[in-house]
Formats: sequence, C-alpha cells, structure tokens
Amino acid sequence: MRTILIVGNWKMNKTASEATVFTRDLLARVPAQPANLELVVAPPFTALESVRLALGASSPIQLGAQDLFWEDHGAYTGEVSAPMLKDLGCRYVIVGHSERRTLFGEQGDLIQKKIRAALNHGLRPILCIGETLAQRDNGTTDHVLTQQMHDGLSGLATEALATITIAYEPVWAIGTGKSATVEQAIAAHRTIRQVLAAVASPAVADCARILYGGSVTPHNIESLLASDQIDGALIGGACLQVESFATIATVASVARSIGV
Ligand code: PGA
Repeated sequence: MRTILIVGNWKMNKTASEATVFTRDLLARVPAQPANLELVVAPPFTALESVRLALGASSPIQLGAQDLFWEDHGAYTGEVSAPMLKDLGCRYVIVGHSERRTLFGEQGDLIQKKIRAALNHGLRPILCIGETLAQRDNGTTDHVLTQQMHDGLSGLATEALATITIAYEPVWAIGTGKSATVEQAIAAHRTIRQVLAAVASPAVADCARILYGGSVTPHNIESLLASDQIDGALIGGACLQVESFATIATVASVARSIGV
C-alpha cells in the first residue's frame, strides 16, 4: 500500500521567526507517530533553517522546499541549489508549481532540469502538473497532463522515476475555494498513472504517489483520500493555520486504516 503524503506549501508566507512559533504549535498538534502517513512542510527558503531547528530530530514532519535551481553553484543571482537544500535537511522539493509556470514562465525543459538536479542530490521531487479551466472546458485535460508529464520526465532512468511524486493540481482549483470533484481527481490520477507506466514502467506507476492539490481543506480531505487513486494532498491556503493543517493530518492518519 502506498503511504499517504500530505505536503503543506507555505508559498511566500511566514517570516523565519513566525515559522518557528508556527512549527512548534504544529508539532504539538499533529499525530505523534503516524503509521501510514508522511507529513511535509515546505516553507520559503528564508525559513527552512528555523523550521528545521524547531522540528528537531526524529520529528513526524519532514522538510521540503518550494523550488530549486538546476546548477549546483555559480553565478546565478537569487537562486538556490539542490546541495544547499539538502544541507538544510530538505527531503522533498516541489517542482513546476503552476505559480512558477504562470508567473515565471517555467516550461518543460527547465522543469526537467530541476527534476534531474533534485534526483542527482537525493531530493525527492514533487512534480506539479494541471490543466487550466479553458483546457478542461475544451476537453484537452488528458492531453495537457500527458504533455506535462513527458516534458518533466521523459528520458529519466526508471530507478530515478521510482522516487518521483506527482501532484495533480488543476490551475482553476488552486486558491479558488473550488476543489476538483473526487471523480475529476480520480480520472486525472488514472491518466497520470498510465503515463507513468509508459514513461517508466508499470511497477513504478504502481508505487508512485499521486497527490491532489487545489483548495484542499479539512472538509474535503476525507472524501479525497477515500479513493485509493489519491495518495495524499498538496495543500496551500489550509496549511497556513495550525488548526486546519493538523486536522488534515489527523484525518489522513486514519484514512487508510479505517478503510474509508
Ligand atoms: P490551495 O493551493 O490549497 O491554496 O488551493 C494549493 C497549491 O498551490 O499547491
């Protein structure tokens, strides 16, 4: 069975000092040793160190980053590399979030370079893909998802692909309060798993985790995780309050064990 993965993407929120207080509060509220659940927070780069310190050793919460650059070091003003993230204790890194694609023009080839850099340094990439509302309305969702998967992953070694997580995040659902329906998410996840089987192998497709993201809340997490096609969630707005993120974590920690 695939372990559920819940990732909180803080985006550009919380100073380093705010992050310390928040992380301490969160630690006191999340399940202490979730059996079939991995919890990750992805603060801004500037708060990674304070979150790492607040989490301490053997924390039930792991550290992730929101982005990375593909070179290890050099004259790349403003960028942060995989070795830098690794050194700060990051285990995961989000790549190709729709805000990076839309606001900063990130495209397939660049996203693949970032995925490769993460894999080369033992970081586990979470590749974000998703269609716009116009693409959904004109029936090209599957095509868009397939293209984004190929752009990000084609040519990577099968062993490397085994550590990849995909986050299906319909652009129209991000930050809008309008989540995809469970049926829409399941259909997209099936497509993604088929593409993974073709790009990597059926075995990789079977063990890869596919998360849903886009207006996930304490109210809809249970119904999303009720499907064994949905292996967790990438959460934006609802991860910024201790109460809502801890509730989501608690629901996720029992989701598979009670067979919902
Ligand atoms: P949201 O963001 O939960 O606020 O919709 C999700 C995301 O951007 O990953």
